[in-house]
Amino acid sequence: MANKKIRINQPVIDEAEVEEVSKLLRTGMLTTWHGSGEKAGEFERRFASYVGVEYAIAVNSGTAALHAALAACGIGYGDDVIVPAMTFVATANVVLIQGARPVFVDVAPETLCMDPEKFQNAITENTKAVIPVHVYGCPAEMDAIMDIAEDKGLIVIEDAAQAHGAIYKGRKAGSIGHIGCFSFFASKNMTTGEGGMITTNDAEYARRCRLFRTHGQEEAHMAVMPGLNYRMTEFEAAIGIVQLSKLDRLNDIRTRNANILGGYLKGIPAIVTPTFPFYIKPSHYVYTIRVKGGLKKSRDALQKYLVENGIEAAVYWPNPVHLHPLYMGLYGYQRGSLPVSEEASDEVLSLPVHPKVSDEDLRYMAEKIREFFSSDF
Ligand SMILES: Cc1ncc(COP(=O)(O)O)c(C=O)c1O
Repeated sequence: MANKKIRINQPVIDEAEVEEVSKLLRTGMLTTWHGSGEKAGEFERRFASYVGVEYAIAVNSGTAALHAALAACGIGYGDDVIVPAMTFVATANVVLIQGARPVFVDVAPETLCMDPEKFQNAITENTKAVIPVHVYGCPAEMDAIMDIAEDKGLIVIEDAAQAHGAIYKGRKAGSIGHIGCFSFFASKNMTTGEGGMITTNDAEYARRCRLFRTHGQEEAHMAVMPGLNYRMTEFEAAIGIVQLSKLDRLNDIRTRNANILGGYLKGIPAIVTPTFPFYIKPSHYVYTIRVKGGLKKSRDALQKYLVENGIEAAVYWPNPVHLHPLYMGLYGYQRGSLPVSEEASDEVLSLPVHPKVSDEDLRYMAEKIREFFSSDF
């Protein structure tokens, strides 16, 4: 087992993707000025239909998706946007870049997704929007969030960067809020290398997202609003179409792997395995355990042990976003401001359950974790 290497994430790229990209490259039509070329347009239609929304807009990253969504909603100077602290920094940075202020709130201890009550308590007259994040592929408590948001007239932008195909009460992640944003970064459940998608049922938001991704141009060289170059290339879209066709099958393998690993890890007192409400079908982006505090053998030591043994266990995220130097400096957040997120950041450890993880890998991971806790390191 000495040379074993189990990566935390690994894309599943087959001959079909290679063929589609080769065909596309031979056409010579690599991209378009507007971003809805033949392949990107087809990818958008298929993705919209998969998620169950009217419109999908392909962009070149999940960050671009979030940024365009905020711009399309008219979020800017003087506005507050509520963001959970337990997320990748992109969720907050796009708010700041738009000139608005991210207001961080704590998460629910079971799912590590935004706590609806904390969201409600953070609303002020400046609040314009909220970005619930579907952490590790588990959808946030969307019914409660939508009720509060509708009551206060707030826009809900789902950060579904980790939640392709995840289901909340029969609805797909990205179809519940006013806008949904996905990432197709190479680590994700489906990938285009870099890439992203915006989903919505609102024709005007869709129109403005399309404009924003191509410098606000309605026709070539006719800008009607500000924007950037956030277009997806045709070859990325060609990969995305194939990846989407495999998504449900690959997500089923993730679910199976997560269930098997959960079974193997039962009964280790120091760790808590993830559980989900019965009405949620997560996409199992990663399998995140918690190494409970107060132990001599901490999360960091376990991570080191696993990495030394060829298991790329990872911490998402070692710092909740309010404790990044940027946000501590800007708004004066301190340790202690959002205790659930802070405790989680000290305890979480993500293990791989992607489709390339074999049954033997799952057994090996569990064996190494048990070994760690039963010996004197
Ligand atoms: C929760 C979350 N939001 C946003 C992003 C940003 O996506 P991208 O890396 O495609 O810009 C990521 C990507 O890792 C993410 O995990």
